[in-house]
Amino acid sequence: MNIEDELKYSDKAKEYDEKRINVGRIEKPSAYSIFTGPCGDTMEMYLKIESGVITDAKFQTTGCTAARASGSSLAKMIKGKTLIQVEKISIEDILSDLGGLPPMKIHCACLAKTTLQKAIEQYRK
Ligand code: FES
Repeated sequence: MNIEDELKYSDKAKEYDEKRINVGRIEKPSAYSIFTGPCGDTMEMYLKIESGVITDAKFQTTGCTAARASGSSLAKMIKGKTLIQVEKISIEDILSDLGGLPPMKIHCACLAKTTLQKAIEQYRK
């Protein structure tokens, strides 16, 4: 049994992961970022932005179940929101949507949030 099997994820986190919600790429994105977290795993975020509103969001990651669930959750939450609204979304919002994460996996939600923030910074440059 590997360590992932020993961790308890909520049904919602497992569903996001299994259905690969919002996993993928966007051709010619308005914003893109790639970020490697302290654990060594990487996330890529693709955003389509029209008139300051995120109309589509997709991600890919080399990370774990928690990173995949966090990316799915965050990409779902930001669609239809303005950049200003999106920047107010916190790690706690992701955790709340997921029904929590194992404590040793909180940093995987941070990976998603930081990757999103870097995509927005890239868009504004
Ligand atoms: Fe690296 Fe979860 S352990 S993303």
